[in-house]
Amino acid sequence: MSNLGFDTYEPWSGEQRPLYLAPMAGVSDLPYRLLAKECGADITITEFTNSTALSREATASWRKMESDPREQPFIPQIFGGEMDDMVKAATMLQESADVIDLNFGCPAPKVTSICAGAALMGEPQRLVTMVENIVEAVDVPVTAKMRLGTGQGPNNAVNICQSLEKVGAQRLCIHGRTLRQRYSGIAYWGTIQTAVNAVEVPVVANGDITDANSARLCLEQTNASGLMIGRAAIGRPDVFAQIKVGLGWMEKEELPWVSQYEGEWDTLSETSQAFASRRWCWDRYITLCRETTGLAKQTMQRHAIAFSKGLPGAKSVRTLMHELTDVNESAQAISEFLKPISEG
Ligand SMILES: Cc1cc2nc3c(=O)[nH]c(=O)nc-3n(C[C@H](O)[C@H](O)[C@H](O)COP(=O)(O)O)c2cc1C
Repeated sequence: MSNLGFDTYEPWSGEQRPLYLAPMAGVSDLPYRLLAKECGADITITEFTNSTALSREATASWRKMESDPREQPFIPQIFGGEMDDMVKAATMLQESADVIDLNFGCPAPKVTSICAGAALMGEPQRLVTMVENIVEAVDVPVTAKMRLGTGQGPNNAVNICQSLEKVGAQRLCIHGRTLRQRYSGIAYWGTIQTAVNAVEVPVVANGDITDANSARLCLEQTNASGLMIGRAAIGRPDVFAQIKVGLGWMEKEELPWVSQYEGEWDTLSETSQAFASRRWCWDRYITLCRETTGLAKQTMQRHAIAFSKGLPGAKSVRTLMHELTDVNESAQAISEFLKPISEG
């Protein structure tokens, strides 16, 4: 498996294929991407960033484009409705990027209203020309992430994939929902399967992959060249490892939160295991924040709520986040909260 994820495969027969942490605004910050990699993600992508802001050298947008030597490949994702800004931002990014990913999937009105994100699927010729211009302007591989279509009229993801392959896109990712659906309904993987058969470049499947079982079903149905996981990885970066263990791609004993118990892991209750794995991930996240971006209150609060979701007593985390103003104190308090029951 190459580390850039450009391998294509025969129909799936159980072998390992790359797992991607989905680009997620407000979630996939640099320390979280590094954590996901330590938890089994093979490839990470930044949250989407406005190409117009990047082309105007906006500091806040460029801060989102920071990487670290441990993040390889570094794949920034950009969006925008202005052709020139998209080309300019991609050109500016190629110095640091290993691959540049283009967003044609965002359904947020503030994005679609400028004819960017998934709205561009309603103007397929413009979308394809945009990708063509970017491919011509940069020396790094260009990839694209899209939905099934806009949901108005027939879905066009497969046609767009074929056109993008012709103009030089090197990997395509399809989220099995339309723009109209946003996040409702069940992701439809049938179109991803059709796209896999219709193009030579790798196609990554996305939508409703949440565990080893859904990962297996999706690979069996689509034969995709990789799986991208979004919401199931929010607060649960260990989902990548769980999938790999469940599909026989790695041993449970290799997981750092298991190995720290030196053979005692299976004696813990399921709840204690949930606390223990999340605590390991939380402590690592905080360390990675300190090593890279620093601790940011708002981001940390969001992650803290996600990390504790579903655990007994999770409500107290919101109160803690409210009461504590110092980020270091908050980080420590969450770590204490996540201490497995068996350890008091
Ligand atoms: C909070 C959140 C933020 C997202 N931000 C982005 C983004 O910046 N770029 C993008 O291409 N998709 C974004 N998405 C969509 C996801 O990458 C993914 O396509 C979608 O969640 C479906 O996958 P899932 O069923 O595994 O969650 C976002 C989704 C969520 C939930």
